[in-house]
Parts: sequence; C-alpha cells; structure tokens
Amino acid sequence: MRLKDCHGFRDFRELARRRLPDPIFNYIDGAADDELTYQRNTQSFETCDLVPNILRGVENIDMSVTVMKQELAMPIYCSPTALQRIFHHEGENAVAAAANKFGTLFGVSSLGTASLTQIRDRYNGPQCYQFYFHKDRGLNRVMLENAKQAGVNIMMLTVDTITGGNRERDLKTGFAIPFNLTFRGLYQFAIKPLWAINYLIHPKYSMPQLDDFVDMSDGAISVGRYFTDMLDPTMRWDDVAEMVKIWDGQFCLKGVMSVEDARKAVDIGCTGIILSNHGGRQLDGGRAPFDQLAEVVDAVGDQIDVIMDSGVQRGSHVLKALSLGAKAVGGGRFYLYALAAAGQAGVERALELMRLEIERDMRLMGVTSVADLSRKNLRFR
Ligand code: FNR
Ligand code: LAC
Repeated sequence: MRLKDCHGFRDFRELARRRLPDPIFNYIDGAADDELTYQRNTQSFETCDLVPNILRGVENIDMSVTVMKQELAMPIYCSPTALQRIFHHEGENAVAAAANKFGTLFGVSSLGTASLTQIRDRYNGPQCYQFYFHKDRGLNRVMLENAKQAGVNIMMLTVDTITGGNRERDLKTGFAIPFNLTFRGLYQFAIKPLWAINYLIHPKYSMPQLDDFVDMSDGAISVGRYFTDMLDPTMRWDDVAEMVKIWDGQFCLKGVMSVEDARKAVDIGCTGIILSNHGGRQLDGGRAPFDQLAEVVDAVGDQIDVIMDSGVQRGSHVLKALSLGAKAVGGGRFYLYALAAAGQAGVERALELMRLEIERDMRLMGVTSVADLSRKNLRFR
C-alpha cells in the first residue's frame, strides 16, 4: 500500500498503522477509557442528512471562510497536535508547509517538536499557537511573550486537559516522551525499519517551547503525567480573563462544550471558541461537539466565532458543521495519519482530498459559497 492508494481517512489510517511502531500508532489512534466519545464524535454526523438543491449553476465554487479575522481558502484547518516529529521526521514543518500551500491554518502546539519561529519562517499564512495553562506562571508569561514576538495572530488556550485523560492504550504500550527503548519498543523498531532508520538518522527531536521548563532528567514522562503534573488545576475564568487582556488580540478557548461556558467566553472578551472534546482523548462519555453545535451557535454565534473539531473525517462532515453555523472546522487525525504515512506529501494529499470532497459536495448540494449553506440544507432524523 502506498500514498497513491490512499483515497480517504481509512486508507491513511491503514498506511500509518503499517508504517508506525505500535505504541506511536496507538498514541494517535487511541482515546480515553472505552473510547465511546471518540466513536460518537464521527457517528454524530450521521444524526442528520444533507438535503440538496438542484439546477442552480454550480460551476464556480468558493469555499473560503473568514475566521477570527483570518481568511482561509478552505473551511477545514489542521488542529494543533503534539510531538509531530515522532510520527514522521519532517514533523511540524511538513504540516505547516502543506497547510500553507492550501491556504489554511495550522495550529502549532506548545508540545510541538518545532519552534514558533521555525514555523513562521516557513509559513507566511496566519499563525496560530495553541498552549496550556501551567502551574508555573512564569512559563505562561514566557509563552505569551514568545508568541507576541513570533507574530502569532491567534492564541488558542486548550481548556479540556485540566488533568490527563485515561488513555488505556498508552498505558498498555508504555508510550512516553522521549520514546522509551523498552524491550517492546526495540522490537517495534525492528519490525518498522523505515520509521526506525528515519528516526535514527535525523536529529533528535525536542520540544522547543518547553525544553527549558520540563524536567525529563528522571526519564521519560507520559502525556498524562505532563498534564497532571504541570498543568494548573486551579485555573479559573479570572485567570483566563487576565490572559485575554494581556494578549489584546484574537484569543480562543479550545475545549468549550456547554452553552454556559460559551457565554462566559464572550463575557471575558474571547473572540473565538472551539467546541471540542480533544478527539475523545480526555472525558469519555462526553458529548460530541457536533451534537452541541446548534445550541451554542444559537446562544453566542452572533458575538463570537464558533468553531468545532473532533470526529471530522469527510468533506460532508465539514458541510454539515458549516450548515449548522460553525465558522470553520478543525481536524487532527485526518492529517496526522497522512503525516505518518508520507510526511509533507501525505498531508498535502489529505488536504487535497478534503478540498475535492468539499468542492464536489458543494456542487452536489447546489451551493457555490459557504455563506449559502444553512440549516435548510439539513434534516435531522
Ligand atoms: C491532539 N490534540 C491536541 N490538542 C491540543 O490542544 N494540543 C495538543 O498538543 C494536542 N495533541 C494531540 C495529539 C494527538 C496525537 C491527537 C490525535 C490530538 C487534539 C486535537 O487538537 C483535536 O482536538 C483532535 O484531534 C480532534 O479530533 P480528531 O479530528 O482527531 O477526531
Ligand atoms: C494529546 C495531547 C498532547 O491529546 O493534547 O495527546
């Protein structure tokens, strides 16, 4: 199986599964507890059907959107994800370059393996930086200052990771950072030689945003332990309000789910919210963002940009979310499997297939611009 055999999400996932050592594949693919929310995220798009209109002249399709004052050539962007260089040696640079080529946004994670300035040098589109709120207030300040200096356009604070999710697959495989060379790990290296050679011949990865602050001297840490040890469970609305004020620009919260919280985000001056359950990786049993979308858009959609991610695998999912009123849609695994499968070429193919699906589906729906999509195009079962 090669990149040219990948025609959609499932194919990229399969190719990634074949190429990656088992603990790394399962880190991407896995979610919390019984992974019910993870499954529900994609199933939620099947609660409604698209109702097309015909004979409307659909030769020219414009799928561009404006979100948090940034113009995107397509309505789906690459959500921030950690540690991309362990999935493929090109890592964040590959995703940034691919997103740039397709005129869309790439959220750099503070747990990323490339620095903000490295990305800025390669990527001249809007800059989006995702970060967490640490117990170390000095670190929080440094993050905001570095972002200002790097010319970041959108600050994205993730608020659904106040403690680590229970990722049982990671517990079973022993996934940790840096990648553990346990007996099982060595075996995985040996049976995935292409990945192993690339891992060994390319410079050792680091997390430039955090290297000075995370102490890994006593060995590897798991992602769960990072969240639980380093993030600040005392974080409250007042703390975020202060940050929003200091930032004084586009600021969104990632991981809002309730209408009540969406209203609070408006009150403290956020300019965007991302309905997200972290791809089902945190609270299992949590509701799918798509199921919450209409209610939140109705409550605050005229005051703040409502965005969603989690479970998006198809162009038709993007159209459904836009029809309900989302300003844009994010996705994680749809490009991560592609990155793991083939680096920048893989991410470009994943974005190109998404673009083609959205364009084709807009034509079949009888709409030529995103503004034409509305709830009239949807029928809930
Ligand atoms: C993530 N996600 C994430 N979110 C975030 O705010 N900061 C991060 O560092 C990461 N890291 C991360 C790693 C991996 C491997 C995955 C799969 C996800 C969550 C991500 O931004 C997004 O919310 C979900 O991926 C959306 O769900 P789908 O599209 O993967 O179903
Ligand atoms: C994850 C983190 C890093 O989901 O956000 O693994």
